[in-house]
This record gives sequence, structure tokens and C-alpha cells, in this order.
Amino acid sequence: MLLFVDIWVSCNWNGIVVWQKAQSQNTMKSVADAPQFELDSQENPPVVLTSELRKVYTTGFFLNQKVESLKSCSLTVYKGETFGLLGPNGAGKTTLLKLLLGIIRPTSGRGLLLGKPLGDHTVKQRIGYLPENAYLYDFLTGWEFLEFAAGIFQIPKKIQRERIPQLFELVGLSLKDARKKQMRRYSKGMLQRVGMAHALINDPELVFLDEPMSGLDPLGRYQMRETILTLKASGKTIFFNSHILSEVEKICNRVAILAKGELVCSGSLDELLGSTNTYRVKGTGGDWEVLKKWAPNIQFGADGLWEGELEEDYYDFLASLRLMGGTVVSMNLSRPSLEEFFIHKIQG
Ligand SMILES: Nc1ncnc2c1ncn2[C@@H]1O[C@H](COP(=O)(O)OP(=O)(O)OP(=O)(O)O)[C@@H](O)[C@H]1O
Ligand SMILES: [Mg+2]
Repeated sequence: MLLFVDIWVSCNWNGIVVWQKAQSQNTMKSVADAPQFELDSQENPPVVLTSELRKVYTTGFFLNQKVESLKSCSLTVYKGETFGLLGPNGAGKTTLLKLLLGIIRPTSGRGLLLGKPLGDHTVKQRIGYLPENAYLYDFLTGWEFLEFAAGIFQIPKKIQRERIPQLFELVGLSLKDARKKQMRRYSKGMLQRVGMAHALINDPELVFLDEPMSGLDPLGRYQMRETILTLKASGKTIFFNSHILSEVEKICNRVAILAKGELVCSGSLDELLGSTNTYRVKGTGGDWEVLKKWAPNIQFGADGLWEGELEEDYYDFLASLRLMGGTVVSMNLSRPSLEEFFIHKIQG
């Protein structure tokens, strides 16, 4: 059995099991000596801190080709934040995650994870990881797989019996499927849910999720979002990669955009997109002179429609408009959506 497990583990270089095996055997070595970072805040020290982290892969038959997957990436994530890493395919998101987790080593640069240098095995107990393409053992049930993972973390059986059903409930996988069905019979969405439960088996304080919404239907996405929000509410720090920008916008405190290995920008949504106090209003009717006072840049169309930006409290505006006999046709935040911002940054 041990030999079997070892072969299985060593066949899966691209994911969770390598990381788990390393944690169980304490084989990971520190990438560098403890970095000499100046921590910004003593009260809320960063849980993820990188300084000019860079990764160059050597490829080709003669190992004569170089791919610079990550270029000098410096970023900070604080405790309790939900941090979204965005970027087109091949931008270097998974590479960054693997560097942070110690699965691969940086070519240059440094980083701290929970205050320890990247690759330090002592933090692995405090971290959860949902890989991009999690390989979950086909012939185990979801339940058996979590028991196996819990065993690697040396979680006592009594706690396992409580935690495993709680996790399946959290991720929305029925206990019947978890207990009775082997994972080769699971749909993509069910596997994603098991992967998520697996990432949380050790009750980690910092969770890395690589494309957690991938392969999920709209209901599955909604449930995954709720799961992430539950984790966020319980104070966990979440670092995730995603292409689904509408979900990122609903979940994240801060985001960063990577393109061709380069960090294009990072910040809170308000910092990147603008404030949430200004609305673009379209409507009909009302007294134009009064409307001009509410929205100085208002434009009046020949069709009787008007459109302008509202900076005052919109409740008062709506009350005033109603008194004037006007109607609102649409009202949206003036700032661009994250998707518009993302496309502008990537193309521009
Ligand atoms: N093991 C590897 N050897 C060589 N090149 C690699 C390796 N892993 C990744 N790359 C290259 O590094 C670049 C970044 O890949 P990465 O997987 O980090 O992108 P990503 O942003 O996660 O993309 P996606 O959104 O498609 O998951 C790509 O050009 C990829 O081909
Ligand atoms: Mg990826």
C-alpha cells in the first residue's frame, strides 16, 4: 500500500499531493535565508509578502530555451484579506502560487509566507491549497480521500469525524455521494467541491485557490462564492486566481493583475476602479433647471431622455425627481466594472 501511495504521489508533480507529501516528510527546503523585509504594520503583519520574485523555466530538448513566467513580482497580502490575482492565460498566476507554496523555487527574489521564508515546511500545516487541476484519486470516495488527507496532517480520528461532514456540507457535496461514490464517477463540479473540502481539511488560516470557480455551473459558482465568503467571515486569508471577474468583484478586498509575468497593478477595488459614490443616471421628465443642479454635466437628448452623473446622495435625488414627475430609466455606478478595467489594462 505504501509503495502504491508513493507511486501515486510521485506521478502528480503538478499539484496538491506533491505539496502534501513534502509537508508530511518535511523535505522542502528554504529558498533563501530569512529575507530582511521591513514589515509595514506590526498590528496586521502581511501573511504573504514577495519582493522581486522571479521565475524563469528552462525548457527544450537541450534545455536551451528560457521562459520568464514571472518578472520581478512584489506584492503584499494582509491577514483576513481576500486577494484576487487576475490575468489572462499564461500570465504567470499559477507560477506565482506555486512559488508561494514552495512547489517550485524562484530564480531570484524573495518572499515570506506567514512570516517564514518561501519553502519553509513549518507553515504548511497552516495553509490550504486547491490546485488548478487537482488530481484526486479515482478509486477512493470523496470521504476516503479526505480521511487520507486528514491522516497526512495527523488530524485525530475524533476531529476527522466531526470535520469531514462539516466540510462536505460547506462545499455543497451530499454525504451520500461523498460516502458511496468513487471519485471516478464524480462530475467536474463535484470534484472541484472535493478539492475545496480537501484544501480546508487542516483548518488552514491561509487558503490558496487556483481557479476555484472553474468547471462550475452558475449554482456551483454561487455556492463556491458563498463558501469563500464564509471562510472570509471566519477570518481566514484567501488568495485566489480567477478569470471570473464578476465573482472576483463580489468577493475580494484587493486584487492584482498580472500580464505576461508582470504585475500591472494592485490595490483595493475602490483604488483601482474609483469610488462607489458616483452614479450614472438616465431618465425622462422632471424640471431641467432643477436636474442641472443635481447633475451639472447632465445631457438632454432630443428623445426626452437625459443622462448625467450624480454626486449627491441618490435617495434625495430620487425623492426630488419623483416630486418633479420624472422617472429613472437606469442607474449604475459610474466607475467601470472590473471586467472593463481589466480589459483596458491588458490591452492598453
Ligand atoms: N513547468 C513549466 N515549464 C516551462 N514553462 C512553464 C511551466 N509552467 C508554466 N510555464 C509557462 O509559464 C507561463 C505562465 O504559466 P502559468 O501556468 O503560471 O500561467 P497562468 O496565468 O496560471 O495561466 P492560466 O490562466 O491559463 O492558468 C506560460 O507561458 C507557461 O507556458
Ligand atoms: Mg493557471
